[in-house]
Amino acid sequence: MKKNVQDLVGVGLRQPHYSYILENKPDIGWFEIHSENFFQKGGPALHFLDKIREDYPLSLHGVGLSLGSAEGLDQNHLDKLKHCAHRFSPFLISEHLSWSRINGVSFPDLLPLPYTDETLVILERNIDQVQTILGREILIENPSSYLEYKESHYAEQEFLTTLCQKTGSKILLDINNIYVSCTNHGWNPVDYLDSIPLDLIGEIHLAGHSRKTFSDGSTLLIDDHGSAVPDAVWDLFNYLIDKGLSVPTLIEWDTDIPSFDVLQKEASKVLAFLSQRKSIYASA
Ligand SMILES: [Fe+2]
Repeated sequence: MKKNVQDLVGVGLRQPHYSYILENKPDIGWFEIHSENFFQKGGPALHFLDKIREDYPLSLHGVGLSLGSAEGLDQNHLDKLKHCAHRFSPFLISEHLSWSRINGVSFPDLLPLPYTDETLVILERNIDQVQTILGREILIENPSSYLEYKESHYAEQEFLTTLCQKTGSKILLDINNIYVSCTNHGWNPVDYLDSIPLDLIGEIHLAGHSRKTFSDGSTLLIDDHGSAVPDAVWDLFNYLIDKGLSVPTLIEWDTDIPSFDVLQKEASKVLAFLSQRKSIYASA
């Protein structure tokens, strides 16, 4: 069966582009949505998504489940996610290696976790619950981070790999997040990539970031998804492609959202990288 390389390349679906997509049906393999934006029971967003789903596969990407919460998951949130998955039959469902809820209060941020055995047990329990309720595997995304816990005794990539092997989930590898975290913490991004088994990676995210300079001259990379994918991130992506990776790959752009043709140009760059390895897409 022939596998089309362009089917692997997706972009994040954002409200300013709904009408353009429906009118022009751009040549994009799939769209990713933020699950929580479609938890309501009605309204124009659901109407547009139903129409777009008629022509494109979808990935559900969660930002509010708080997989790292020691108090357990919010059953109401899980029920809504299950309903959303039933309605849109996504080919991927993903969440983050992070926490954002405590004592029933949710925060609008993906907060970092200490990489300890205790955290591993909490995440295993919560991910098992999600996968049981959904009846399928999910993907877990590596976060971008701005601080490290002194309690951590796993490297992030080792922790994420162990977690996915224990739970049967896959890794959503965000290469921009790797670059941001590695730069902020002084980790080596190639060592990070080399530590992750290729067969555990189920999806790639690519995005842009910005640099903040403080009054003392120190700098921090900020994962703001508000610009084109920078060369350093393309280089790391190409490194993985050269190793033989070919999985669904997404362009994420969440702030200062440009016209759709800008996203399509970024997607065509992904396609160009993937097409360099045409031999893996031959008939089998
Ligand atoms: Fe991402």
